[in-house]
Amino acid sequence: MEKNIEQIKQEFLSELQEVKNQQEFEALRVKYLGRKGILQDLFKRLGAASPEERPRLGKQINELKVFLTEKVNEAKARFSARKKTARIDLTLPGRKPPVGRKHPLTQTLDDMKRFFLSLGFTVADGPEVETDYYNFEALNIPKNHPARDMQDTLYITEEILLRTHTSPVQIRTMQAQQPPVRIIAPGRVYRRDTPDASHSPFFHQVEGLCVDKGISFGDLKAVIEEFAKYMFGADIHVRFRPSFFPFTEPSLEYDFNCVFCRGKGCKVCKYTGWVEISGAGMVDPNVFTAVGYDPEVYTGYAFGMGVDRIAMLRYGIDDIRLFFENDLRFLSQF
Ligand code: PHE
Repeated sequence: MEKNIEQIKQEFLSELQEVKNQQEFEALRVKYLGRKGILQDLFKRLGAASPEERPRLGKQINELKVFLTEKVNEAKARFSARKKTARIDLTLPGRKPPVGRKHPLTQTLDDMKRFFLSLGFTVADGPEVETDYYNFEALNIPKNHPARDMQDTLYITEEILLRTHTSPVQIRTMQAQQPPVRIIAPGRVYRRDTPDASHSPFFHQVEGLCVDKGISFGDLKAVIEEFAKYMFGADIHVRFRPSFFPFTEPSLEYDFNCVFCRGKGCKVCKYTGWVEISGAGMVDPNVFTAVGYDPEVYTGYAFGMGVDRIAMLRYGIDDIRLFFENDLRFLSQF
């Protein structure tokens, strides 16, 4: 019987080599391991062996069982894998890997930067978590000043807050260097606003600051005017309206011709032909004094710009929240 077991092994291996498909494999498995298979037959015959022989033979049959089971399991994986590969249709076109692209706000900001860099501005940076001092005090907005109402924000402590505008970067830049200064400061800002189509508790601004001897209101006007034409076309004009910011004097708000009707009047601009962009003005002498510049020697202008607002005009988007929902059906259009 011992000889028999070794022979069975050899036969099984050579038969396994001949197996070509799943059906043949299944037949082989049943032949050896099935309920009426060779292995069961051996176990049956074990009963007829003498009591002295039985333990040794039993061990050998068990070893054969382990051997056969292992080989069958190995081969099983091979046959089912073959079955799967056989299903691949090589004539089908491949799947295109999805390609990412820049967010519409980033694309807009890139263009804005390109314009200002071409005029000799450099890009400055500042923290989004700011101190009360940089966000308000140094910008001539003391505690309890009514101008704080428009820019209520989220406070971390009494003195630390999420910046409400990019204007604190003006202060940080002027503290760190002497004139001439010509910077833009892009970044995210925060306000305690309830989200709706035109409000978001966070949005993006680009601050501009230019300080030197002899800088005038005319320089500010020219830069804003050129920017409007660069972004929206040569027929877009700029309008300045008097306004108030504690850190500029005089202050103004500026509008562009409505980019949808090109100034003729439509629903978007409420038939005025103008859309509001942001604020600007000549740097207040108090701000210069706070950073140690001599207001008798230097003058300068500053402006704000809403990146989200400009992107909405540029792409005809009527809800600011779309920028922040991360919906690929929206984002992949730009
Ligand atoms: N920081 C102002 C705002 O967010 C805009 C502004 C910037 C006004 C620079 C004047 C000068 O409303």
